[in-house]
Amino acid sequence: MTDHVSEMRRRRTFAIISHPDAGKTTLTEKLLLFGGAIQMAGSVKSRKAARHATSDWMALEKERGISVTSSVMQFPYADRIVNLLDTPGHADFSEDTYRVLTAVDSALMVIDCAKGVEERTIKLMEVCRLRDTPIMTFINKLDREGRSPIDLLDEVESVLGIRCAPVTWPIGMGSRLKGVYHLLLDEVHIFEPGRNFTRQDSTIFQGLDAPGLAERIGAEAYRELRDELDLVLGASHPFDAAAYLAAQQTPVFFGSAVNNFGVQLLLDFFVEHAPQPQPRATTTREVLPEEARLGGFVFKIQANMDPQHRDRVAFMRICSGTFTGGMKAFHTRSGKEMKLANALTFMASDREIVEQAFAGDVIGIHNHGTISIGDTFTEGEPLAFTGIPNFAPELFRRARLKDPLKAKQLQKGLAQLSEEGATQFFRPLMSNDLILGAVGVLQFDVVAYRLRDEYGVEAGFEAVGVVTARWVHCADAKKLEEFRERNAMNLALDAAGELVYLAPSRVNLQLTQERWPDVRFAATRDHI
Ligand code: G4P
Repeated sequence: MTDHVSEMRRRRTFAIISHPDAGKTTLTEKLLLFGGAIQMAGSVKSRKAARHATSDWMALEKERGISVTSSVMQFPYADRIVNLLDTPGHADFSEDTYRVLTAVDSALMVIDCAKGVEERTIKLMEVCRLRDTPIMTFINKLDREGRSPIDLLDEVESVLGIRCAPVTWPIGMGSRLKGVYHLLLDEVHIFEPGRNFTRQDSTIFQGLDAPGLAERIGAEAYRELRDELDLVLGASHPFDAAAYLAAQQTPVFFGSAVNNFGVQLLLDFFVEHAPQPQPRATTTREVLPEEARLGGFVFKIQANMDPQHRDRVAFMRICSGTFTGGMKAFHTRSGKEMKLANALTFMASDREIVEQAFAGDVIGIHNHGTISIGDTFTEGEPLAFTGIPNFAPELFRRARLKDPLKAKQLQKGLAQLSEEGATQFFRPLMSNDLILGAVGVLQFDVVAYRLRDEYGVEAGFEAVGVVTARWVHCADAKKLEEFRERNAMNLALDAAGELVYLAPSRVNLQLTQERWPDVRFAATRDHI
């Protein structure tokens, strides 16, 4: 009999946030290598090969297919079970990317040392803020010339508003890279190009005064290191576990993913300090991960890559209890029991049928559209997990139908595809337009293709004068009615019938917000 509490405590469930090309895929591969999941590392690579394909559907399908298996990568390390949830980043960037962050207990931020904090990272960080998710930072590509480490930390602090606690510190950079110094272990790990590709540990010097260190890295690099450390130790924050867990401080590591340098130091620290599964809010009470009964929520839906099989996989994050293969669970939205047969687990060596899963784990449940994003499963208690929102889309297009007689099918197709969560669909109050919103541009091509393929509807998407959306709330029903009348031109209903303000410009949104102080404009909509 496995004890669900000790199993839960071993879990570390996280995601990587980064701007494209910072090195997420490469780092993922190295982490999997340490977990002994070499096979999986290969498939991350093949996925990467597909990712540069543009809107070629076959390539997309391939990518989607592979991404079912790499959506969650589970591997054992140092007596922990690590669950790494993929955040789709290149062509497949979508709202899913944001929502994955609601299903993790911590995140790892990867930054390119030459580029610093980039736009996508800023956005993903904003999403992490919604739940105060603890974040570790890996500054990558140290084997290339980049910006000064102190500069980079300054930028993280000022742009992302989080204090930095360097844990490792680089000794040189680019062709002068000599290694890193671990501030907490007081160890120097030497960079030996070509030698760090495997699990092989690098040469370690214990302490800055260790005999031979200055000779090994060279007198100049040694002097620079000492000077820099004096400065850094004086000016930066020492690592503080409580501040990290409260998302006020990020421990920072330097390294080179492609050389597998500095990665193991990060992973060792991660499994020691990253939080275990955390309590979760629901509509009625907080669910603790120690609880014996199963509780979980769905944060992502993926359509089967084979159009002959219309089934979908719903990804459920387990928050409490034990999942056992074939068990019946209570689907709280419909109020029905559902048999969770053939659930998938994601042990990194391959997709497998799960026998058991615990809080922190993710399982994939096959269904035919009965399960939606945000749905809760329990063992009977009628509660619903909160905080799995829709995010305001950042790109908008108007659907343009080739055959006007197919309007009904178009609407149905858009509504159903939006249920998978990568796009959202809006019906303006004052026109018959159908507007699609997304956060990744390729989603429009995907939807157009699938409308044709699965619904027999030829449709294109054209520019529309909307830059952002806000869900509108107002406690005063009369005020809301007045707002609705005055702003009908810019209002729409989303797929769930909720009122949304579609702003034609940022300035317009700001002015409208100022003009209507009693109306709340929300950038996310909770499913509950
Ligand atoms: P992503 O998933 O965040 O988009 O990044 P990915 O890992 O695909 O890395 C983007 C590029 O950066 C890749 O090069 C990769 O090899 C390179 N890279 C990753 N880590 C390091 C590092 O530590 N040092 C250096 N110098 N490069 C690194 P590419 O040219 O796009 O692909 P490839 O053909 O080299 O594989």
